[in-house]
Amino acid sequence: MFSGDLLHFPQGFIWGAATSAYQIEGAWDEDGKGPSIWDAFCRLPGRIRDGSSGEIAADHYHRWEEDIAIMAELGLQAYRFSISWPRVMPTGKQKINPAGLDFYERLVDRLLSHNIEPYITLYHWDLPLALQEQGGWPNRDTAFYFADYAAAVAARLGDRVTCWITHNEPFVVAVVGYITGELAPGIQDPVAGFRAIHHLLLSHGLAVEALRASAARQLKVGIALNLNPVHPATERETDQLAATRFDGVLNRMFLDPLFFARYPEDIEELLGPVFPRIQEGDLTRISVPIDFLGVNYYTRSVVRYDESFPIIQARQIQPEGSEYSQMWEIYPPGLYELLLRLWADYKPTNIFITENGVPVPDGLDADGRVRDERRIRYLSRHLAQAHRAIAAGVPLRGYFVWSLLDNFEWALGYTMRFGLVYVDYQTQKRIIKESGWWYAQVIQENAVPAIEEE
Ligand code: FCB
Repeated sequence: MFSGDLLHFPQGFIWGAATSAYQIEGAWDEDGKGPSIWDAFCRLPGRIRDGSSGEIAADHYHRWEEDIAIMAELGLQAYRFSISWPRVMPTGKQKINPAGLDFYERLVDRLLSHNIEPYITLYHWDLPLALQEQGGWPNRDTAFYFADYAAAVAARLGDRVTCWITHNEPFVVAVVGYITGELAPGIQDPVAGFRAIHHLLLSHGLAVEALRASAARQLKVGIALNLNPVHPATERETDQLAATRFDGVLNRMFLDPLFFARYPEDIEELLGPVFPRIQEGDLTRISVPIDFLGVNYYTRSVVRYDESFPIIQARQIQPEGSEYSQMWEIYPPGLYELLLRLWADYKPTNIFITENGVPVPDGLDADGRVRDERRIRYLSRHLAQAHRAIAAGVPLRGYFVWSLLDNFEWALGYTMRFGLVYVDYQTQKRIIKESGWWYAQVIQENAVPAIEEE
């Protein structure tokens, strides 16, 4: 039992944890799986900080039963995971690999037997390599292949899975995959990147329709966006303009077409010839009503005017005097600010926090426990802000910790640990961290202990 003051969440609030296929599954070429852009990217020298890959990862493909038993032990009410497109369709189109679908079907059935609601993400960054060889997301055809893939998965699992997320963080897929090139496929081409944004959004709309048409029950479908409040570094006018542009590309470029069937005008003007070509009807498809908006929140963006920065002339900085994790500034009030803004500007009927969490350099103490107090504090502080937002009227329905397990953190390899559960990569042994036990208590009491903010 928690002691002291508690912040109670509404009845029916959903408590979960999240993972993604490439980050945990391993088994990169088993049972007919085709290669993805991540399988190829990890082989390029110098791209992954520790030279590693997701070939084995947390070996979840073989340890899924144990992992679900851990979820049940923690009392998770929901589990958000992603489906590997190339496991289901090895070349991304036409031919289905039934063994791939079998794996996810077993997973789903076991989750349901424990009363853990599956939240399926269809795309968490592992594009079939064969589709990248035909241009990847900058190629408009990819959007239509994605819809076919969505239909194939829903035909198998749509009779028992209610909650679906089309894309995870299309901003990161397009901008970091095709413009800065830090993530797969590692391309550096702004024209390709902005085309990718449009095709990802189009593919979302097409997939929403395909899922609803192909499933045997009424689904709840949404999308998970990485959204940050954007703050100017100073009150200077140039910094404020920089912040508006940064917000335009990071946030409004996705929210406006999804909710208002239009792209932000200031960004269209700013991009000029780099702005993607749009066909008639695209925006109607993109803005098909969704059942919920997924928000991945980790940090805010503080931005300064910088003439030398291509196109947007805005650069993100790390403000002095702030608190930091190994990856980002820690800024809990940004979650409240963001949720209120979403509610005021876009009025989504339901919101889920589909990711929130922090990397901590965890290790085992002599007694075999993992004392990740920093994570408990991070989660508590963010949940307090979520609680405040609910009190202010935001329709926030649930919360997913990133992540259930320590896993392969993309270009940072295994140098970051985000899990509620520690993974010893030598033995693949799982150890529930203190934060995991703490979260189990949160779920049981549907409440978080109030903490003092200094
Ligand atoms: C998000 C990704 C997720 C994980 C966390 C730390 O951007 O969706 O896969 O890498 O960051």
